[in-house]
Amino acid sequence: MTSTADKLETIHSVSANLEAIFTWDYERSREPLVKLYEKAKTSQWNASTDLDWSIDVDPERVGQELGGGGTLRFQALAEAEGSPVRHFGDKEWTQVAVELQNSLLSQFMHGEQGALLCTARIVETVPWIDAKYYAATQVMDEARHVEVFARYLDEKLGRQYRINDNLKGILDEILRDPRWDIAYLGMQIMVEGLALAAFGMMHQVTTEPLLKKMLRYVMSDEARHVAFGVLSLQEYYKELSDAELRERQEFAFEVAQRLQRRFAHSEMWERMGVDPQAIYRVMDEVNPPAQQAFQTLLFSKIVPNCKKLGLLDASGGWLRDRFAEIGVIQFEDWVDTGEEYAMLDEVAKDRETASA
Ligand SMILES: [Fe+2]
Ligand SMILES: [Fe+2]
Repeated sequence: MTSTADKLETIHSVSANLEAIFTWDYERSREPLVKLYEKAKTSQWNASTDLDWSIDVDPERVGQELGGGGTLRFQALAEAEGSPVRHFGDKEWTQVAVELQNSLLSQFMHGEQGALLCTARIVETVPWIDAKYYAATQVMDEARHVEVFARYLDEKLGRQYRINDNLKGILDEILRDPRWDIAYLGMQIMVEGLALAAFGMMHQVTTEPLLKKMLRYVMSDEARHVAFGVLSLQEYYKELSDAELRERQEFAFEVAQRLQRRFAHSEMWERMGVDPQAIYRVMDEVNPPAQQAFQTLLFSKIVPNCKKLGLLDASGGWLRDRFAEIGVIQFEDWVDTGEEYAMLDEVAKDRETASA
């Protein structure tokens, strides 16, 4: 029997004071959104039948590939004076790699649920019919994403982690905000932009066939989601005043900083019997190059997309200056919508071949 305490931990609620918006204007006036909606309808896939769940997965091997890069970032800390991981040997580092990959995939699963809630919110609050239609398809996409990550963790890796406090803080903040564009900015541009970059890195390093295919399918959906965010906000942000844009810049930067902190994996360290605070301390001291490179690369989609929205240079370039301070401004011209769309087509072709 589940106790009340367990139930309390299972359910988490966020209050918001919002307006559900009807529009009586049914005209299909936003051509790019119409196209994206059509694309979304024909790009649906079925997690139960399009992926081969009979594949045997060796968690240790997946861990070495996926968690391996992460382990390198942390191994660099072992040398430091007073490091809490000084005594770690091969056995411990293998375990770190496995736990790291479980922790990473668990956070993606929770993030996907955040996306599910945010896009349901967008259906309700966005004032444009074309955006409501499109967002409805995204709700289905996100349900499928939660489904695949949860199933992979459950059936193939066997261990899930609770949501990370930083990620929870970001999702709560997005969902508490009554402004419709903030759900877009927080989720579609920031969280999904980072997820797309992270999925890309994972997709590149893993050779596990089920995970690889799953990531590719998820990424093809995510590329469309980021495009939806950019298309919608580009139009809306043109109408906003400098002061209103500044609020959006500050919001975007706060989310960016929180996203950076999210990758310290405190839950994983707790499970390894290491005080996460001690890890943060050494991490700040050593600041390993592998860690810097990893954290920087996570911004490779966020920065160019903020630029497309006009957010870098609004209100005297406030956000440009902040991104420069945290060392990620060099991504501003990494425009890769073309590459993302090429991938969409790849998945479509894949499915045609499979059904032929
Ligand atoms: Fe997703
Ligand atoms: Fe998404």
